[in-house]
Amino acid sequence: MASIYVTRRIPEKGLLMLKETFGDDAIEVNPDDRVLSREELLEKVQGRDAILSLLTDKMDSEVMDAAGSQCKVISNYAVGYNNINLKAATERNIMVTNTPGVLTNATADMAIALMFAVARRIPEGDRFMREKKYEGWAPMLLLGQQVTRKKLGIIGTGRIGSNIGRKMHKGFNMDILYFDRNVKEEFEKDTNATKVDLETLCKESDYISINLNYTPETHHLINENLLNLMKEEAILVNTARGQIIDEDALVQALKDKKIFGAGLDVYEKEPKMADGLEKLDNVVLAPHTGSATCEARTKMSEIAAQNIIDALNDKKPQFLVTQ
Ligand code: GLV
Ligand code: GLV
Repeated sequence: MASIYVTRRIPEKGLLMLKETFGDDAIEVNPDDRVLSREELLEKVQGRDAILSLLTDKMDSEVMDAAGSQCKVISNYAVGYNNINLKAATERNIMVTNTPGVLTNATADMAIALMFAVARRIPEGDRFMREKKYEGWAPMLLLGQQVTRKKLGIIGTGRIGSNIGRKMHKGFNMDILYFDRNVKEEFEKDTNATKVDLETLCKESDYISINLNYTPETHHLINENLLNLMKEEAILVNTARGQIIDEDALVQALKDKKIFGAGLDVYEKEPKMADGLEKLDNVVLAPHTGSATCEARTKMSEIAAQNIIDALNDKKPQFLVTQ
């Protein structure tokens, strides 16, 4: 009988698929709604054929060795998989899979929501109302930035970045600049986007959205130098991974009003924030809820389950990220 461990409760749909395929007794789910400690993770993975992990689980060689040589697949319940050591997995013949596609709209929508929230200062206004400070319409109250017809710079035009670009070009007539390793012909055709280098993107964009994977090459890609190039009206949004921005440098730039504001869904040392971030009014903070729609999370659970079903049935999973 197969043995599958799920490191934290996810939407029921995927768990049901696993139970139907492998039997109720094959599946163990962490009963507590919290991240497992390192010790618990190392203990719980032992003897498993498949592990359904979350981006909050560090899946390194030690965990893989603890799991044992029968382990065939680590199915990550996320599109990002920087929590998993792919090289170590490949060396141990462990397949690693992810859940792309089904969270593209959710995450793109979140990036767009953050742009508007920062531009129109919506959380600030909400706080203002709740604090009963509102004394009537005022000509200079909470002035923000227009979104329509502004220039949007997208850093990384994979599924999520290009989805944002298409929506903002079609819906809000934004001009699109993008930074990517590759020329994206379809995307250029659909949005009239121009591929530029990172410096140009930072200098010229009114809105900047980060949509890259986190890798050693993208660590602190957005640093003090690039922040200094940005416009005073610029709004920076990150729904990818926190480590792509030097968060201390961003706090400084926001404090010094070098840019208009930032919208963050991810943090460099998640779940911690850089010192001082929470005191700033020109940043909108979300708790890594980019993919948190009922629709996306349910679909992610189905895909994460299907990846395990395929791997354990000697079929190549559709969303394999190891070779
Ligand atoms: C969320 O951050 C994901 O990678 O799915
Ligand atoms: C996510 O990884 C994407 O493809 O944008």
